[in-house]
Amino acid sequence: MLSETFRNHSGNQLDELSRAHYERLQLVKSVGAVETPEAIATAMVGECLRFLSHIEQLDISWLDPCVGTGAFALALIDEYVRHLPNPTYSDLPKLTALEVDPEGYELFLKRLESRLSQIGLNIQDYFGSGRLHALQINFFDFFNDFKSTGSTRFDCVLGNPPYVKFSTISEEVRDSLSGLRSWCGKSADLYVYFYAATFELIEEQGVVCFISPHSFFKTETAKEFRKVFSTGIDLRSLVDLGERKIFEKVSVHSGIFVFSKIGFTCDLEYLDLSAVDSKFQVDEIVHGNRQHANVNLTSDAKWIVTIAGQRGMQSENRNPTLHSMGYKIYSGIRTGLTEAYVFDDSNKKFESISNEACVHPLVVATDIRTNRRAAPSKKIINVPKGSANPGEKVINHLEQFRNALENRQEGRSLNYWYEQRPLLYEDKMLKEKIVFPDITLKPHFALSAQGELVADGAFFIDSNDYALLAVLNSSYARTHFETHSPTIGTLSSKGRMRLKKHVVASMPLPIAWISDGGLLEKLREMMNSYLLAGEESHSSTWSQIDSYVQSVYEISE
Ligand SMILES: C[S@@+](CC[C@H](N)C(=O)[O-])C[C@H]1O[C@@H](n2cnc3c(N)ncnc32)[C@H](O)[C@@H]1O
Repeated sequence: MLSETFRNHSGNQLDELSRAHYERLQLVKSVGAVETPEAIATAMVGECLRFLSHIEQLDISWLDPCVGTGAFALALIDEYVRHLPNPTYSDLPKLTALEVDPEGYELFLKRLESRLSQIGLNIQDYFGSGRLHALQINFFDFFNDFKSTGSTRFDCVLGNPPYVKFSTISEEVRDSLSGLRSWCGKSADLYVYFYAATFELIEEQGVVCFISPHSFFKTETAKEFRKVFSTGIDLRSLVDLGERKIFEKVSVHSGIFVFSKIGFTCDLEYLDLSAVDSKFQVDEIVHGNRQHANVNLTSDAKWIVTIAGQRGMQSENRNPTLHSMGYKIYSGIRTGLTEAYVFDDSNKKFESISNEACVHPLVVATDIRTNRRAAPSKKIINVPKGSANPGEKVINHLEQFRNALENRQEGRSLNYWYEQRPLLYEDKMLKEKIVFPDITLKPHFALSAQGELVADGAFFIDSNDYALLAVLNSSYARTHFETHSPTIGTLSSKGRMRLKKHVVASMPLPIAWISDGGLLEKLREMMNSYLLAGEESHSSTWSQIDSYVQSVYEISE
């Protein structure tokens, strides 16, 4: 399996050979090879594990699509065995490692062998355990094969993709990119293709973590990529390394990006390490001051990161926020073809399936009025990927939209043509919750009953707390939203505001959320009576609640 080329070298000698390998390869512009410093690889493994805490560490399947001489593979092994006196093969990570360059690949195997021997293990048995797959292959050949065979996906793709301008990509690799050209445009850099392919390769709850240039957020050549992927991914974390000298002999504005598929909360953690003037240390990431931020991944326009609360109210630093209190905000359902799935009861076309088990009342943005229960005006056929078979009646009914359904962008990743993209938080959405519209004249928050689903254009908070509902509809909150929300037109002349998730998540709550003393219970009782009175409730009652909220905010301890 291993050639004799590097047979008798020590670990240190292999590290030297690895450095020399990258120096040589730097002259080959089509390969884009630079070595990731150990501290960066270690920090990135830590980043991934934070976002994969929902999976048992030993069950996580990892892919490094361009492993080079093994920076990430070695960092992973170190992480997995660091507390174990006598590790066995089943303690090692489940890793798939790919590399196109034969010498790089050979050095990777040798370095891995050397590291394993330090802990009493060997590479043959690691392969034999089924937990290691390594191939010398062009990643895009691997990807194309995956597409045609539908092999298993990965929980995490981790790595440092090659930074190669389109014009310098080799003829052979270019040919293998053809399946991705319609998503990436005609002239995106090679690392952008790596992003595009790996988003396809991850599990629904998986993550992609790359250190890469920042330029795909804004360059013209990545515009097509932004357009296609803006609807399917969330940026969860960005460590901005600015122009810091991370790589030998390469100057580039780089960052460590963690992406996941849509469906998580859209909270972005932003850590700005661009101004630091020294060699990168793992601790910078572990102890760095992360800010709550947002990025407008909504179109092919430049993706811009904005830091939440920069124009904050005075009390913001001391008060808890929805985010810090653990409330999560989720998007409504995007079906990919509204006319096939969403209807109202006057639509005769849907009469025959209107009472099927997979059909639910649907709250759309205009059904949401301040402080009331939302009154769903629509229904939805809810068939997210992975749900039970919706039955013949529903499938027959959807047949009339089959062509359009098959041509949806997300069609590629679904199991059946009639499905919608997966709804990872369906259980939360089906409970009683607080809903709010995305675009609105003024902030509206309402309760939505159990069993109701929420449409795209609206969001929901995983809580039915009356105190939270009162606070969100208060004058205090309104000032927060008006100060922080982006607007469409001017608010004073019929303009509308966008109640973005991050603005709601960063809304300060009264200190009573931490040390209550009965204040919130009283607020809940007031809201309960108000809601029970329904349409009959008097506006003066709401004024009393609003003043009470104000007084609760004024109590600082
Ligand atoms: C930026 S280097 C990173 C290497 C290593 N993972 C590290 O972090 O030190 C990029 C690596 O991608 C490899 N590479 C370039 N094109 C590739 C392709 N089409 N498929 C797989 N690997 C590729 C290069 O040979 C190089 O080893």
